[in-house]
Amino acid sequence: MNADTSSASLANTNAVGRVGMSPRVTELDGGRTLVIREALPEDAGALLRYLEAVSGESDFLTFGPGEFELTQAQEEVHLRRVREALDQLYIIGTIDAAIVALLSFTPGHRARVRHSGEFAISVGQSYWGRGVGGLMLDALLEWARAVGTVRKIALRVRTDNLRGIALYRRKGFVTEGTLRGEICVRGEYFDLLYMGLQL
Ligand SMILES: CC(C)(COP(=O)(O)OP(=O)(O)OC[C@H]1O[C@@H](n2cnc3c(N)ncnc32)[C@H](O)[C@@H]1OP(=O)(O)O)[C@@H](O)C(=O)NCCC(=O)NCCS
Repeated sequence: MNADTSSASLANTNAVGRVGMSPRVTELDGGRTLVIREALPEDAGALLRYLEAVSGESDFLTFGPGEFELTQAQEEVHLRRVREALDQLYIIGTIDAAIVALLSFTPGHRARVRHSGEFAISVGQSYWGRGVGGLMLDALLEWARAVGTVRKIALRVRTDNLRGIALYRRKGFVTEGTLRGEICVRGEYFDLLYMGLQL
């Protein structure tokens, strides 16, 4: 069982009304301390190195080694824009200041679809199955409820990603449909589940 040692409330609101996320500190089983916080522009370099590392650890991501294709300057601009947006979130999990997890949430662009968005998540392989993904999702859901305008959160997951699907179901996501042959990894086509959670 992980013990949440954070004392501050998770969500905070800045002068322009943006609901941010206060850092959340959790003691993992085995004594490592996980800090979940919003990513900053100065994290761009470390984030790109993290993404390159995880791209080689899992075939369940939408990119493989060398395919993420953002420069550090572009990633910095992206992170700055997320921090200015009222309803976008980009959070990282760190252990001993090293990035071990990432979750980003982006809502629809126009008014009619802005209440709904998709997230992407990854955890470094050495921390799979230790509750880190669950804690990242808890942070997303708590933030989204505090924002108030986010009414639906969705994701796409490969039908053979049993660990991911188990996690999303446990957090209340339900399967809304199957996207046939949606992802191609080294010439092999895979189906994706579309899963959603109404807030
Ligand atoms: C999917 C991922 C984000 C989950 O994060 P995580 O930190 O490993 O997940 P957690 O430890 O919080 O929870 C995983 C759950 O799956 C369960 N699980 C693990 N392996 C499983 C398996 N083979 N079959 C079914 N359930 C499994 C765990 O028991 C746990 O559930 P529990 O807490 O009820 O016991 C992470 O493993 C990852 O990044 N994988 C590679 C990339 C990826 O798949 N990204 C998501 C794409 S949609």
